[in-house]
Amino acid sequence: STSLNSAFVAKGKKYFGTCADQGTLGNTQTKAIIDADFGQVTPENSMKWDATEPSKGSFSFSGSDYLADYATENGKMLRCHTLLWHNQLPSWVSAITDATELTSVLENHIATVAGRYAGKCYAWDVVNEIFGEDGKLESNVFLDVIGDGYVKIAFDAAKKAAPDAKLYINDFNLDDPAYAKTSGLAAQVKEWVAAGVPIDGIGSQTHLGAGVTTTQAALELLAESVDEVAITELDIAGAAATDYEEVINACLAVDKCVGITEWGVSDSQSWRPNENPLLFDGSFEPKAAYTSLLSLL
Ligand code: XIL
Repeated sequence: STSLNSAFVAKGKKYFGTCADQGTLGNTQTKAIIDADFGQVTPENSMKWDATEPSKGSFSFSGSDYLADYATENGKMLRCHTLLWHNQLPSWVSAITDATELTSVLENHIATVAGRYAGKCYAWDVVNEIFGEDGKLESNVFLDVIGDGYVKIAFDAAKKAAPDAKLYINDFNLDDPAYAKTSGLAAQVKEWVAAGVPIDGIGSQTHLGAGVTTTQAALELLAESVDEVAITELDIAGAAATDYEEVINACLAVDKCVGITEWGVSDSQSWRPNENPLLFDGSFEPKAAYTSLLSLL
């Protein structure tokens, strides 16, 4: 039978995926849906800094290995997420005030985590949510202590550790070309790429409210700066079929859009409780948006 992934791949895209981790995969209904319908997985939490290096120099890979092994054993592509983010960052990192120390901590974290999964990640979200709504780099411990050079430091370290992975900058509220954040990020990435920072792609998280209209135009703007773009964490409040169709059609229409990742399977497991933003309901039944996507594909 046709799956979302196989139908999307038949349209020339690389994957249609979802986030997952040991907990969600431990649910037999979730696992059955992922096995059947999705061609790519992103660790929802297990590769974040608090999970992989909870205290300095002490690494823990049980959750991330579980997800990476699931991908290998089941022929799923793996998007890896994420090496630098101000959330889910242990307090021992945010407490560092010395630039030399924070640089070496960042380089060691990236060398160790990206190195462990070298050859396994199709892509890495090297940096996550580093821009503000004004389209400029937002304050975080890395900007405050190291300065804006931290972005090149992070990408160079990722390139060294995982030379085969597509290296992404990932962010939310990039859904309209009219947003200052979308144009500011796109312009800054273009400058970084010209300056030799090894950025291959821009990930648009695509956490949306109902009533979506500007996805294609936004992806087109982002795609001017990089070799590829991806929708990395899709969920839409209410999950109207028309809204999902708008997003899927946008990726189909933009050649550089390589794939779409849903941020979860069942509404019962979504990080946005009560918004019912996913393709399967709380009883793991496919919703109208799911059916309409399959017919569209
Ligand atoms: C979310 C997870 O889904 C939750 O389980 C966790 O409690 C918080 O993080 N942007 C991102 C994702 O890049 O990593 C976030 O995932 C959602 C927002």
